[in-house]
Parts: sequence; C-alpha cells; structure tokens
Amino acid sequence: MEMDLINSLKNLGLDFEKAVNAAATPDALEDLRIEYLGRKGKLAEIMSQLPKLDPSLRPAVGQKANEIKVECQQLFEAKKGNLAKESEARTLSRFDPTLPGREPWQGSLHPVSLVIREVCGIFGRLGFDVASGPEVEIDRYNFEALNMPPEHPARDMQDSLYITDSTLLRTHTSPVQVRTMLARRPPIAIVAPGKVYRRDSDLTHTPMFHQIEGLMVGKDITMAHLRGLLQAFIQNVFGRHTKIRFRPSFFPFTEPSAEVDISCMICGGKGEINGAPCRVCKGTGWLEILGCGMVDPNVYESVGYAGDISGFAFGMGIERIAMLKYGINDLRIFFQNDTRFLEQFGL
Ligand code: PHE
Repeated sequence: MEMDLINSLKNLGLDFEKAVNAAATPDALEDLRIEYLGRKGKLAEIMSQLPKLDPSLRPAVGQKANEIKVECQQLFEAKKGNLAKESEARTLSRFDPTLPGREPWQGSLHPVSLVIREVCGIFGRLGFDVASGPEVEIDRYNFEALNMPPEHPARDMQDSLYITDSTLLRTHTSPVQVRTMLARRPPIAIVAPGKVYRRDSDLTHTPMFHQIEGLMVGKDITMAHLRGLLQAFIQNVFGRHTKIRFRPSFFPFTEPSAEVDISCMICGGKGEINGAPCRVCKGTGWLEILGCGMVDPNVYESVGYAGDISGFAFGMGIERIAMLKYGINDLRIFFQNDTRFLEQFGL
C-alpha cells in the first residue's frame, strides 16, 4: 500500500512533466495545473488515501508527496515563463520596436493667444505690467473720459453694441487706460490685451476681435520715447530689418496722434515682387499696424491727474499682427475653430 502510493506519486510527477512540456498555451498550462495540483486534482486524490495507511508509514509518503508537488510547481512556473517569452517574441517579430513612437496630440495655442503672449512678453521685459478691464464697459470709460463727448461721431450706434443707455460692449481697449489711471498714480507703464466689439462684419471685419493697448505716463515722456519703444517692439516681432514710419492721424484721446506703418515683410518694403506690385502692401511697401499718440490733456483731466505729467498711448489689432506674422489672408478663419488651421500653431 505504502509503495503503491509512492509509485503513484512518482508517476504523477512524470505524467505532469510530459503534459507540461506538450502544453502550447498559457490556458492549456493552467488547465494542467488544476487537473494535477488543484484542490480536487490528481495529487489531492492520491493524498486522500493517506488516512488508510498505518500512522507510522504516513510521514514518508507525505514527504514524497511534498517533493513531487514542489517539483511540479517548479515545472509549471518554468513553462509559464517560457510561454510568456515566446509570446513576446512573436509580438516583437510583427512590430519594429525601434520605430519612433507616435507623439500624443497635445493641442496648441490659438494664434491670437500666441501673439498676445508674445507682445505681453516683449513689453513685460521692457518693464510694462499687464492690465485688463471688462468687456462690458460703461459709456463714460469707453468714450467720455477719452475725450469723446456724447455727440462725438465715434459713438455712432452703427459702430457700437449698446447693452443699456450707459453700458456697451467696449469698442476698443482704450477704456483700460482710463481704469488704470483712475486706480493708480504715475509712473504707469501697462499693456492691456483683450476682446473688443464693433457692429461690423465683412471680409476684413468681425464683430469681435482683439486689441492690445499700451499706456505709459510719467514725467518728461516724449514722442521720441514712443517711437523708440515701438521700433524696438516691431523689430522684435517682425525682424530687425523692419522699418517703421509715423503718419499724422487723429484720435480724440491723443494729441498729437499718429498711425504707424511698418515696411512690408513680404516684398521687403520695395512694393513690388519681380516687377509686379506686392499684393500684401498693394504696392506701397508699407503696412499700417497701429494707432498711437501723446495722451490728450483732456484725458488727464477726466481721471483727475494734474501737474507736470506726460505720456503716450498706442493700440493695435491682434488679428492683424497675427495675419502678417503667419501669412494668413482671411480674418474669418481665426473664429471658425477649424482644427486643420489651429493645429498648425505651436504651444
Ligand atoms: N483705440 C484706438 C482704436 O481702437 C487705437 C488707439 C489706442 C489710438 C491708443 C491711439 C492710442 O482704433
């Protein structure tokens, strides 16, 4: 009886080894483990006969059973490892693990955001703070404090989007000048980016667009400072060979006022390409880029500034800069959220 059980155990070991060697898949291997070593398996069945033995013979059989069990488990684990390795090798033979990975799509910033960041970054390094104001503005800050009294043509209902008699969607970022001067004393140096709204919609106008305002107020600030600053800024954005010119202009809140042109980056300011007029600057060699001027004394008065003080302000359209910088010829594409357009811009 005792020898019978020990032989059964030995045979079980040999059978298990043979079967394991033949197992081709992890599932088949697992089935074998259950068949031989499981709670109701072949080993358990042999062991169930142990109580029939004389107690003095049991330890020897028990010890053999343990040996066989450990051996079987080792066979099982080794085979399991081999099968895993084989399956990995099969996978690798189908894929080239040296191919570069595909980079996950991370999204990108809108070109308007990119230009706002760039412009704020440049002025930030020149010592300017970034300021902001609400898009729903009071009439007084959008117009009156900027030297545009009630009958002024710029307040025309055709241009402005009024909410109530005294509130409207701001038509420019210039009210941030007023808010900043009301909140602080000079010296002031700020830039203020943001959305502005006008009742205008065609190929080159959208009812909402972005501007960035600049304001510097202090002592002995002159138009030469304005010119030098704008030149440094423009050359930073469009390249150091870009020229600028001031053209006399008019804004109610600056005096004197100017519009600033930059030399066309497409034709290099020549106005023509291979004998044909440049289409971007329409043959002039210049592109209008912003409005500016020395802050009008009436504006200082409206914010309660007095005494020996001077300064300048400027304002520019962000989409216009983005179009020139990235060579975009359709304004509307900025607001269509077409990812084929948007994903061309970096972070
Ligand atoms: N606010 C003016 C506009 O919208 C631009 C401007 C700003 C002009 C500051 C002069 C000074 O056109």
